[in-house]
Order: sequence, then C-alpha cells, then structure tokens
Amino acid sequence: MEKITIAIDGYSSTGKSTVAKKLAAELNYIYVDTGAMYRAVTLFAIENSCIGDTDNIPGLIENLPNINLNFVPNKELGFSEMYLNGKNVEGEIRTMKVSREVSKVATIPEVRHKLVEMQQQMGKEKGLVMDGRDIGTVVFPDAELKIFMTASANARATRRYKELLDRGEDVSFEEILENVQKRDFIDSTREISPLKKAEDAIKFDNSDMGLEEQFERIHDFALRVIEKQ
Ligand code: DC
Repeated sequence: MEKITIAIDGYSSTGKSTVAKKLAAELNYIYVDTGAMYRAVTLFAIENSCIGDTDNIPGLIENLPNINLNFVPNKELGFSEMYLNGKNVEGEIRTMKVSREVSKVATIPEVRHKLVEMQQQMGKEKGLVMDGRDIGTVVFPDAELKIFMTASANARATRRYKELLDRGEDVSFEEILENVQKRDFIDSTREISPLKKAEDAIKFDNSDMGLEEQFERIHDFALRVIEKQ
C-alpha cells in the first residue's frame, strides 16, 4: 500500500501530538513534532541570552548555524526525543520558561526558514505524521490528509494544567489559560505562516472528546485516504 503524508495542525494544547504519535505508531509511520523544534530553538535562545529581559534577535539569527537539532528514538518510551546540540532537552523544552517565549521565537522568519527546510527534508519519503501550525499550509501543502484540531481555550488550558502539575511544575490555572490565549493570538496573527486552517483540511473539534474516540476517528480518515492511493 502507498504511504501518505499526514499533516496535523491546530491550536496549542489541542492534544495534536498525543493523537499524531499514536497514529504514527499504528501506521508504522515516522512522527515529527515540529513544536519541539521551535521549543528547542527557544531554549537555545534563552540559554545564550538572546531572549529574556532584553532580546537579542540578531544574535539569535547569527547563531542559527550553531543550532543542531536531532530527534533520537527512545525505544523504551516508544517515541523520539529532542536533542539540542547533543543534549537531551525533551523535558526542558516543555517547561513554562520555554512556553512563555516560544511564540516570539516562532515569528522570526529566519528561524522558520531553517526549520521548514529541515521538516521538508524529513518528509521527503512519505509515511510521515507531522504536527504543528503550518504543516498543511506551508511545509506540506500537498499532504494527502490534513487535520486541523481545535478545542475551547478552557478545555486546552485544563489539559495543559494537568500535564504540568503531573510533571511537578508550580503553576496556576490562570497563568496557563493566559499563556494558551496569548499564544493563540500571536500564532494566528503573525505575518509569516500564521496558524490557519488549510482549505482542504478537516476541522476537528475535540473539546468534548476523549483520546480513544479522537484516535479512532482520525485513524479512520487516514485508512480511507490510504486505501484510495
Ligand atoms: O505545539 P507546541 O505548543 O509545542 O508549539 C510551540 C510553539 O511553536 C507554538 O506556540 C507555535 C510554534 N510553532 C509554530 O509556529 N509552527 C509550528 N509548525 C509548530 C509550532
């Protein structure tokens, strides 16, 4: 059976990556979390004082060639982890410290250019599930299946809050809700590759849907497209 490219875009904390990861495992496809790549660049920017109290965007742009990103498979966990210049940063890139700054870094055209190129390279062979904000519109406009995930800001903040509490972060629900709303605004109003539904994407609202149901529905969409190839 021919392999396809599956683009899963949508707002932050809609559970894109959970469903995308499960779908890729089920289809025996590669999974790429592009948010992790923007997060790793943001971590580099924070560590090198390019983002913080005062921003040094030209300094970050100048340093882009020194940012090495790799997804390294972790057999025990069953998925790949993000490495920044040889160091496993999978945990660190999910902290609020990075979430606070990542939308800003994602507006920088030079950063997007570098990451989009890497993503297109990773997807040269089909058999890929990639999630992000601009996969169906910019990275793979010809993807055979495009899903656009949405959910209410409240449902998303609740999920994120639980996730961070489970990881032992000291955060308030209000802070998370504010972060989700702020990122929605920046992500969907930025000039370059704003978050928007591709015309041919399937809109998928999962506010009131459990993981199993989401997975089954999306898996079904994928099988239908694959059968037609
Ligand atoms: O999916 P996430 O929350 O981990 O993404 C982190 C940020 O990265 C998000 O605020 C927007 C940005 N992003 C992007 O601009 N383009 C992508 N393809 C993926 C993420």
